[in-house]
Amino acid sequence: MKNSIGKTSQNNDDSSKIKNSKDIYEEGLKYLMNTYSRQAVVFEKAKMQYLWDFEGNKYIDFTSGYGCLNVGHTNSAVISALKKQVSKIIQPSNIYFSLPQVELAKLLCSLTGFGKKVFFANSGAEAIEGAIKLARKYSTEKYEKERYEIVSFYNSFHGRTFGALSATAQTKKQSLFEPLLKGFKYATLNDIESIKSTVNDKTCAILIEPVQGEGGINVTDKIFMKELKSLCIEKDILLILDEIQTGFGRTGTLFAYESYDIIPDIMVVAKSLGGGMPIGAIISNEYISKSFAPGTHGSTFGGNAASCAAGVAVLNYFKEKNLVENSKEIGVYLLKELKKLEKKYADLVKEVRGMGLMLAMEFKNPVASEIIKLGLENFLVLNKVSDFTIRFLPPLVINKKDINKLVAFLDKTLKGFDKNGKN
Ligand SMILES: Cc1ncc(COP(=O)(O)O)c(C=O)c1O
Repeated sequence: MKNSIGKTSQNNDDSSKIKNSKDIYEEGLKYLMNTYSRQAVVFEKAKMQYLWDFEGNKYIDFTSGYGCLNVGHTNSAVISALKKQVSKIIQPSNIYFSLPQVELAKLLCSLTGFGKKVFFANSGAEAIEGAIKLARKYSTEKYEKERYEIVSFYNSFHGRTFGALSATAQTKKQSLFEPLLKGFKYATLNDIESIKSTVNDKTCAILIEPVQGEGGINVTDKIFMKELKSLCIEKDILLILDEIQTGFGRTGTLFAYESYDIIPDIMVVAKSLGGGMPIGAIISNEYISKSFAPGTHGSTFGGNAASCAAGVAVLNYFKEKNLVENSKEIGVYLLKELKKLEKKYADLVKEVRGMGLMLAMEFKNPVASEIIKLGLENFLVLNKVSDFTIRFLPPLVINKKDINKLVAFLDKTLKGFDKNGKN
């Protein structure tokens, strides 16, 4: 194919040959950096909880694109809001407000109650970076001395950028990128003595996921969360909740903190807020938010009008369709079915755990990759958080019929493994 100056473009010629999943997969391996262990299936389209590959096969999605599609893929409400917005204005620049940005910020404040101000970013990690900066600035100004330490938890995951990675207490994710940022300490989840011995007079914030997602679906105890909040109040430490994965109905309430009976000082959300569009947000109260003044923080694309319009559609969809209720109901059903399998295959299954529709099955042997491969062959899209653990994170619009297909698949598949995990 010739371009406008008459040169033959190598890339265009190559892409014109791409016809099916196999071709795209091979070209992908050639041209994209090798940061993910990619599956050989390539999806051409998707609707709600279903995906179709280039060969026309239909799959059920139990991953929601890493938790970004709680309202389902290509949700009609999101598509229609996007179409309307992109034909008007996409990126007015952050020197100006945009209508969708203001609408979305207002909705997030009214839905959380504690939230009085919002900062929009493009992604989860970028929003975490902003939350770290906000907490450090607030504390250092208030105490008129360096008060910059952030305490997070072992097995947490807060993102891949340097601030977020410094808070991500997983050696395998951090070790090749040292030195990390100074001022990060780690404690053991659900162990109040561990956190008490880690905070000091330099601690400005504790950063926690209500349910650790990438770290293996580890649920924070309710009592521990309350004790943590009391400790924060006693020592004037900010409690930052990372609800990037747990937010928007995932755990059976709109935000996971609602079931913990505590209020965060700062909350970070992203993933499903955009219904598939990139967005992140920091939500905080009036006093803490004041630390961000013009020139202290920013993001060119943060709060892009199209992503915010999608966000408004997502939140309205939740309300109209009572999606949180479905998440709760189907979550209880899936957990019950997984528990039956845990009992039936006690030789193989170590534990089933989670909250709402954020569930995991941990095995005694490293069988997760094999199960994912077999899942794809059976048109089920699954995801693992370790070689031992499969995570279930379906779009919240999923129904019992789809769940039954997953359970039947797991039952059949586990039957085929011996107690050493050999198929
Ligand atoms: C709890 C949590 N925090 C932060 C992030 C980082 O978000 P992003 O990938 O949008 O940067 C993730 C992503 O998986 C996450 O699950």
